[in-house]
Amino acid sequence: MDLTREEVAILAGDEGPGPRLALELLCEFGEIFGARRLIPIASVHTAGHLGSLHQAGLDLLERFVSLGARYRVPTTINPSSLGCERCEPFTPPPGYVEKQERLHRLHEILGVTPNWSCTPYFEHPPAFGEAVAWIESHAISLVNSYFGARTERLAIGIDVPAAILGRFPEFGLYLPENRVPRILIDLVGFERMDLLDYDSVGYLVGLLARDQIPYIRGLPARSTFDQIRSLGAAAAASGAVPLYHAEGLTAEVKRGAIRVDPARLAERHTVTRADLEAVEERLTTTAAEVDLVIVGCPHLSIDQMQDLARRMSGRTCAETLPLWIYTSSRIKEECRKDGTLALLEAAGAWVLTGTCAVTSPVRHSPFKTVMTNSAKAANVLPAEHGLGVVYASLERCLRTAIAGRRA
Ligand code: F3S
Repeated sequence: MDLTREEVAILAGDEGPGPRLALELLCEFGEIFGARRLIPIASVHTAGHLGSLHQAGLDLLERFVSLGARYRVPTTINPSSLGCERCEPFTPPPGYVEKQERLHRLHEILGVTPNWSCTPYFEHPPAFGEAVAWIESHAISLVNSYFGARTERLAIGIDVPAAILGRFPEFGLYLPENRVPRILIDLVGFERMDLLDYDSVGYLVGLLARDQIPYIRGLPARSTFDQIRSLGAAAAASGAVPLYHAEGLTAEVKRGAIRVDPARLAERHTVTRADLEAVEERLTTTAAEVDLVIVGCPHLSIDQMQDLARRMSGRTCAETLPLWIYTSSRIKEECRKDGTLALLEAAGAWVLTGTCAVTSPVRHSPFKTVMTNSAKAANVLPAEHGLGVVYASLERCLRTAIAGRRA
């Protein structure tokens, strides 16, 4: 790895033992991937969930804190295992809560922006072409696809030295030649799409593209930010798609930074509406009664919260079937100010922050069957938490919560 004069000085210990260790780790990591140099990064999004970090992650944080290190670039953090409200009926194993709280404290000492949400782009949206280093698969997809900024998929743990140094090895998606599409996916019959369609199409895109970069044609020209991020979240969950280009929609295509000749893409797939039914069947794993309804994977935006409040107007959730809505503290505060929160809570919904359906220890709860409109959550919850899942539209989720049984 070619180091600058400043980096050589850091390696010699001029800036203290924390930055030196961070540089050593980043160089080792970069060499594995054939990086030639480190590049400056504008921000980091780091892992906040004990289930991702484990004891090794805690030890790494402890080590950097003991060396007096601090984050140099704006660093946000993904959802924790514990909600800000701490009201979820979980009974995690002994020591779990203490370890998660220690993780919170260590990140605070290092200087994290405590958003505890998978929506760092609401805190510091990346600029076109800018390099960042973010964990969280849907945020990575959004950085690369919607914003046209650049991040690789980070291994959990390497985000910490990246934030301490404000640098990251240049490889993979940081290099323009690795951002070109390899696969063509044509959507046929999708002139109008609801949110579940975006999730289902994303799920199929992930299966078809695996970890390759697809070029998607046929999405509605008026697809919204929330729809695009839902598609990317599902594609990153069913496959490992860190970047997709979509005709007329994604940043590098719109700005002409990537020029695509679809005729030259050798691998080609077509997705039709008939394919979506198979997704709904595949992601619904049980015929059992639902005992929890979850909305908000990824964490909801202000537009989505307001839409939910409109849909719930004049309706009330059954007392026997909780409706949990996940968002960030920032969005919840906006909802408090504009009256959205009061409307949702009056309807009996719980608006939760700080954690999410997947990072909280749902395994250690009374819930067995969850209904959700998120293809990502539906894909992950059975494997990670052993839950039965019913994958359904937002409206069907709400009807179920109101009826108190599967609608
Ligand atoms: Fe966000 Fe948790 Fe879903 S981190 S994307 S709400 S799994």
